[in-house]
Amino acid sequence: MKDLVAKGSFTAPEGTVSIKELDMTGDGTKTGIAVMIKKPAGYDAANGDWYYDIRDTAGNVMSDPPPGKTAMCIQCHVGGKSTDYLLGTKLQ
Ligand code: HEC
Repeated sequence: MKDLVAKGSFTAPEGTVSIKELDMTGDGTKTGIAVMIKKPAGYDAANGDWYYDIRDTAGNVMSDPPPGKTAMCIQCHVGGKSTDYLLGTKLQ
């Protein structure tokens, strides 16, 4: 992935897993993780074939928002089409 994210534009390979720690309280407490998994071509062809979910700190998949082709996730992540729906790929 490091080689990919060094590029300005790329498509992530099938099986790529991206996670982000969530701090929903705003005080630094980790409340869960957001997960994106690149599925085989055709899973959700219109939106880059990504699966989305939110997990609690024990790793359980939450039911809200619903896991899968989650519209509320896609509506933001669609803004990163050149980096295959990944938004935080700039190397610091
Ligand atoms: C309001 C806009 C917005 C929504 C809605 C949103 N995201 Fe994101 N997401 C971002 C931004 C901006 C980043 C990159 C910056 C950062 O890490 O905060 C990001 C980063 C991520 C990352 C790390 C990989 C990357 O793209 O850099 C994952 C995984 C992720 N989001 C999952 C989700 C999931 C799952 C949902 C739906 C439950 C979701 N996001 C909804 C804006 C959003």
